[in-house]
Amino acid sequence: MSKNIESHLVEERTFQPPAEFSKEARVKSLAAYRKKYAASIADPAAFWGAEAAELSWQKPWDTVLEWKPPFAKWFVGGKLNVSENCLDRHLTGARRNKAAIIWEGEPGEKRTLTYQQLHREVCRFANVLKANGVKTKDRVIIYMPLVPEAAIAMLACARLGAVHSVVFGGFSSESIRDRAEDCEATVVVTADGGYRRGKVVPLKENVDAALAAGADSIKRVIVLKRTGSPVTMQPGRDVYWHDEIEKVSAVSPAKGFDSEHPLFILYTSGSTGKPKGILHTSGGYLTGTYSTSKYIFDLRDSDVYWCTADVGWITGHSYLVYGPLSNGATVLMYEGAPDWPEKDRFWKIIEEYHVTILYTAPTAIRAFIKWGDQHVKKHDLSSLRLLGSVGEPINPEAWMWYHKVIGGERCPIVDTWWQTETGAIMISPLPGATPTKPGTATLPFFGIDAAILDETGKECGPNEGGKLVIRQPWPSMLRSIWGDKARYKDTYWKEYAGGIYLAGDGARRDKEGNFWIVGRLDDVLNVSGHRLGTAEVEGALVSHETVAEAAVVGRPDEIKGQAVVAFVTLKSGYAASEALNKELKGHVAKIIGAIARPDDIRFTAALPKTRSGKIMRRLLKEICAGGVVKGDTTTLEDFSVVASLQQSGNED
Ligand code: WT7
Repeated sequence: MSKNIESHLVEERTFQPPAEFSKEARVKSLAAYRKKYAASIADPAAFWGAEAAELSWQKPWDTVLEWKPPFAKWFVGGKLNVSENCLDRHLTGARRNKAAIIWEGEPGEKRTLTYQQLHREVCRFANVLKANGVKTKDRVIIYMPLVPEAAIAMLACARLGAVHSVVFGGFSSESIRDRAEDCEATVVVTADGGYRRGKVVPLKENVDAALAAGADSIKRVIVLKRTGSPVTMQPGRDVYWHDEIEKVSAVSPAKGFDSEHPLFILYTSGSTGKPKGILHTSGGYLTGTYSTSKYIFDLRDSDVYWCTADVGWITGHSYLVYGPLSNGATVLMYEGAPDWPEKDRFWKIIEEYHVTILYTAPTAIRAFIKWGDQHVKKHDLSSLRLLGSVGEPINPEAWMWYHKVIGGERCPIVDTWWQTETGAIMISPLPGATPTKPGTATLPFFGIDAAILDETGKECGPNEGGKLVIRQPWPSMLRSIWGDKARYKDTYWKEYAGGIYLAGDGARRDKEGNFWIVGRLDDVLNVSGHRLGTAEVEGALVSHETVAEAAVVGRPDEIKGQAVVAFVTLKSGYAASEALNKELKGHVAKIIGAIARPDDIRFTAALPKTRSGKIMRRLLKEICAGGVVKGDTTTLEDFSVVASLQQSGNED
């Protein structure tokens, strides 16, 4: 079979390898940015069309955009294969032998896959999926540790036109089941385990529990051996990656799919208990992630680019896999925790691999600050030239520390605002062109018509707080919520008329036009840069036999941004105790995942409610922030509840 490989690489079409982004084309000044931005807003189709044209299309599109608010179609009539754009087109020139992925496992194993090797593995695994019944548009759940095979599985789905739905390895078996049921997936790709702080996360066991409880659509589980931990294989359902891969050829033609062919579904928390399946499609998503990676990370062939996100989150999809690989970049991937075995692990990695670009989250930066500069000082970080931040507003202190201690005062920081729904970065400085400033994501990317509106839909004046919106569609925008168009319309497009996307964040613009993001306006928390719906945590709590009612709010936290506080009333016959407190925390972690484990549980006789029965979250938030309750409380059912909660303080 292997004699076919070489011939396949030069089959029928000759790919246009993307030239290294030419230095001349880089935007070099604020004035140049403003000019290009104004042109891109005046004619978005021209800007995005030019960006998309840098990708490989098997059939060119007829129309850049078809916009029937709130439904957009980009590059209509065009056909492409996303995996071909991330792999095959880098194989015709020198990049074929360039590292695509440099990987380090938490225990310390090292692997490097060149573009050619990655291409081969993706083709083989695409054939494994096919042999196991995966067809175009079938949904495949990927529940993996952060190993190259996670990216290989994603790209293999893309190659076949199958739709992946990655479930973060820190999520529970219930989460796997819910997601698999919601998208009616047929296959799960998982591993025997993954490493986190020296412990093995029992991924396969979690899949088994999920499938024992439901998700009947799953017909096949493909298991990668990662840790060697014992697993139970169910005959007829479960197969090993290493067995299957031996049975297939390494030839997998990259068929062209419609630009609007679904690429993946990624679940994210919203304001109800049920996570939303955010649907992204092919041509537009790839154009958005390709273009933003190119301009914002300013990728060069000499770079070693490290995005610390897991593929379980949108950052891992867009800026660990699709954006950098479509640019032919070298991506560093590290499986484990930043403090394992020592608190200098990140800096050790940067020194060892001469990492040039680091993209991480404010919560990590704040943890590093707390751990102390001595861990950083042990290492030479002079290879770094660019730093990125994502996930939540970065506090100016963390920004300054990142700039000084990590960036040696020489690296620009790109503070990138975007969302699972937006697919790609929307607001960010452009390094070397636009100014950076601690605490603001600064200015919108080309073609992104971001604005801040007041309640009436009027644009806010300088420094006036309002709601962050996007007034024009963009290629990498979500297309819908899987199986729930009504929720898609209601969540993002109902607030303002005329096809204006509501991001759900509060923000203001300063006199220079910089965007300052304040945070979510809905009942969604931002815990360590990850979205968590208060309703989800409440749902998990009330599923415990002792809990009558629960209200969950965030309180400011030094490291995590927001900590999870749960106010719980117990059913009669149950009493608050230290043991129950612990049990409830564990229960939530089991139902959702460790990320949702409440930091504090506060037992209360009753919850403060309005006369119509709505829990007064604002009051609860103020109580946990330690503030004195102010504002209008006249609609409160029972004032004594507030008084007693304020006195009780943190019972944790
Ligand atoms: C929410 C989206 C996008 C990848 C990670 C999170 C907050 C994200 C920033 C930033 C201020 C930010 C917003 C947004 N957020 N980046 N640079 N500055 N806030 O993706 O889970 O979809 O969450 O994260 O509140 O709405 P997500």
